[in-house]
Amino acid sequence: MAEKKYAPAFYPPPRGTLRWAEKNYIAQAPIFCSTDLRDGNQALAAPMSMADKLQFFQMLVDIGFKEIEVAYPAANDTEFEFVRCLIENDLIPNDVTIQVLTMSREQPIRRTFEAIEGAKHAIVHLYIATSPVFRETVLRKSREELIDLALAGAASIREMAGEREGVRFEFSPEHFTATETDFALEVCNRVIEEWKPTPSRPAVINLPSTVELSLPHVYARQVEYMHENLACRENVILSVHTHNDRGSAVADAELGLLAGAQRVEGTLFGNGERTGNTDLVTLGMNLYSQGVDPGLQFSRMPEIVRQFEETTGMRVYERQPYSGQLVFAAFSGTHQDAIAKGMRQREKEGPGRWRVPYLPVDPRDVGREYEADVIRVNSQSGSGGIGYLLEQKYGLAFPREMRMDFMRAIKAASDREHRELSLADVHAVFQKEFLDVFTPIDVVEAHFAQKDGITAYIDVRVNGGPRRKATATGNGRLDAVSNCLKSLFGYQYSIVKYQEHALGHGSDSRAIAYVGIIEYGSGRMSWGAGTHDDIMAASVNALVSALNRLYPNPRADEEIR
Ligand code: KIV
Ligand code: ZN
Repeated sequence: MAEKKYAPAFYPPPRGTLRWAEKNYIAQAPIFCSTDLRDGNQALAAPMSMADKLQFFQMLVDIGFKEIEVAYPAANDTEFEFVRCLIENDLIPNDVTIQVLTMSREQPIRRTFEAIEGAKHAIVHLYIATSPVFRETVLRKSREELIDLALAGAASIREMAGEREGVRFEFSPEHFTATETDFALEVCNRVIEEWKPTPSRPAVINLPSTVELSLPHVYARQVEYMHENLACRENVILSVHTHNDRGSAVADAELGLLAGAQRVEGTLFGNGERTGNTDLVTLGMNLYSQGVDPGLQFSRMPEIVRQFEETTGMRVYERQPYSGQLVFAAFSGTHQDAIAKGMRQREKEGPGRWRVPYLPVDPRDVGREYEADVIRVNSQSGSGGIGYLLEQKYGLAFPREMRMDFMRAIKAASDREHRELSLADVHAVFQKEFLDVFTPIDVVEAHFAQKDGITAYIDVRVNGGPRRKATATGNGRLDAVSNCLKSLFGYQYSIVKYQEHALGHGSDSRAIAYVGIIEYGSGRMSWGAGTHDDIMAASVNALVSALNRLYPNPRADEEIR
């Protein structure tokens, strides 16, 4: 069916040099122009209110945009009033140029100039659809008639701007990619001829993929053709304006830049008609991640997302590059482990080139946290990443061998609750299941004497019952306590791992100990952890925790005998 109904609808340009295809990256940031308040706004089910637009404008200024398309003033009163409000209230910084869109008719152009009266810097953006489909079915104009229409608009703009300083011009052959490239070039060159751009008043020629129709390299070849053949090229700023119908708006814009464009129009998070415009966050951060300063600040990304969602009523997709909620998240154990290793390496080596597996940029550069945003815990998670986070946040350095047991408990909790666990949840599982577990047995007192090695004298309660005493020797204090417990309860095990460290800094900080035991015969392993001001008491607590986890029902005296 498809082959009958559809065919490529773009016009490939004559063969170019394709030299741009050999470039490996974009070495310099383009001029960024945000069209959020025009192309983005016109695509919203409920266009932004005046207050929303003002807030959004301020956010764009804070991000660092120097060119902002603020409205289509002749379209309606809200658009017009918004431009007036910005100018009359002196809300436009001196280094920011506002841009306004107009169709190629005298009346709307006049209204557009009324809107920008008093603006220090403004770009009047003229557009006209140039594609055959538009010429034949919508406008019903021949090529010549269409050129005349474009030139009439261009002339009106030139006349109304007169010698006014600070007003520049932009022309867009709408549906550029669906236009015969040589015809698009002819229209642009005729407009350029009308405007006679100079170094102090350069003109912008903007090439919209109004509907994205081709592979990105085809668009780039169209841009290359324009770049190489435009009149008065030195006084023309070549701009790309891509839409995302095939899902490649950012790639189109990037290849367009390689092919000779110097400027990009787009929106935050790619909002815009249908599938949207180029996402300038992605484009800017793609540059940033390769060491090129885009001149745009995204270090407060969560706040930008919040304001964007509040003002537009749109939602930023969880996997939107650099800005989505999940774009740094690693749930799988292998990813988490690699990230944790990369982070540890970085801590060792100090700041330098970013080389952390799975993370194209440091999440902190876009206002995100490792704890909340990177290593995320569910039933697929692994111990390496979680261990890293527990160490960072709670200062816990588990023995490697304990991690398997710990992960079993975490996965069980995640499965049981059928949800992702926060780091606080993970820590709570550790505290509940491994740390200072004093039921059923609790060593309430322990004294030691140096006699036949070390002798321990301990008092134990079972499930809060009466004290029971035991004495035994061992080759160290923990061993002596362990022998007491073996004699009281008949446990058959040996201690296979012992590890301790201070929790926090300073001589008064508490200690934590970890103990791993293995049951004779069955080979069952159990782990416990204990804290105390005194390291010996912490070790006993860890041993008791491991035993209580292995033996939830200690045998009664008579069974032992
Ligand atoms: O996508 C488009 O063609 C436009 C023009 C008006 C520049 O938004
Ligand atoms: Zn557009």
